Amino acid sequence: MSASKKIQIRDLSMAFPGGANGTVIHVLEHIDLDVAAGEFVCLVGQSGCGKSTLLNLIGGFLKPTAGETLIDGARVTGPDVRRIFIFQESALFPWLTVRENIGFGLTRRPKDEREEAIAHYINMVGLAGFEQAYPHELSGGMKQRVELARALAANPDVLFMDEPFGALDFLTRLKMRQELVRIWQRERKTVVFVTHDVEESVQLADRVVVLSRRPAKIRRIIDVDLPRPRDLDSPGYLRVRDEIFATLGLDHSGAAPTAAVPQEEKRNVGQALPDMAESSGLAPIAVPSEERGTIQRMVPGTLCSEDSSK
Ligand SMILES: Nc1ncnc2c1ncn2[C@@H]1O[C@H](COP(=O)(O)OP(=O)(O)OP(=O)(O)O)[C@@H](O)[C@H]1O
Ligand SMILES: [Mg+2]
Repeated sequence: MSASKKIQIRDLSMAFPGGANGTVIHVLEHIDLDVAAGEFVCLVGQSGCGKSTLLNLIGGFLKPTAGETLIDGARVTGPDVRRIFIFQESALFPWLTVRENIGFGLTRRPKDEREEAIAHYINMVGLAGFEQAYPHELSGGMKQRVELARALAANPDVLFMDEPFGALDFLTRLKMRQELVRIWQRERKTVVFVTHDVEESVQLADRVVVLSRRPAKIRRIIDVDLPRPRDLDSPGYLRVRDEIFATLGLDHSGAAPTAAVPQEEKRNVGQALPDMAESSGLAPIAVPSEERGTIQRMVPGTLCSEDSSK
């Protein structure tokens, strides 16, 4: 095994019981993917295609119908405390303070070391001053920061994130992405991040894995070879974003399913998009146009939200 291959997914397929007349529902088919140590990979696909299922298989919460996942060369047979999940819904303990939540998994460490780790990560996520607050006293964005701090304080081997910002308002989501990029650049954890938000994936990932509809296969893996923090107005950013939209069968405004135009192999997005725009006539379905306008006007580093008073 190459040392850089942290995660190796080999011919992974998954079917659930529950289809009509006792049949199974095929969710994932023949997924092959390597994730390098320290890499940030986003899994993108439409709702219900199997993104969370894939993440749960990689993390050992589900057993595949066929194929396997290796982490550091060892087959994944179940969850492991070294690999931490962050979900859309807050999983903080409501009866513990911010400080106690972050320190929860660190009880085996010497007291000094534990206190140092807690303080370090509280500062990193910008929650200094909120150490004694309880989760119900925090905004959604602040809770997700605590989640992130708690996960990082445990020094995980791999971070699995399943739409962790999906429940946040638009501005807070943008701010959280910037924070995550900043933190990831310092920590260099291996991250597998699920989202159906194309913009989010381009802002965050080293590579974006685009899944097809169910049963999901990998349609394309797109390298995002852009410096961080990413300029959301740069031609490079827009090109990658449009490439992902095109792979998903959507045009650059997030509109227009393009069933008539096979997109999988189209690499020249500039040519593909006019075809799609002409053939569509349908309302935007991926990203509301007002949000997209907002994204394009914003430059990373300029955003703020109620809970981000750093
Ligand atoms: N435990 C389960 N038993 C039966 N079917 C399941 C189970 N988990 C997921 N599925 C089915 O697998 C398919 C993929 O679900 P999954 O949650 O992985 O999709 P997703 O891409 O994460 O969707 P979303 O973007 O909406 O979160 C769905 O049709 C779902 O009904
Ligand atoms: Mg999901």
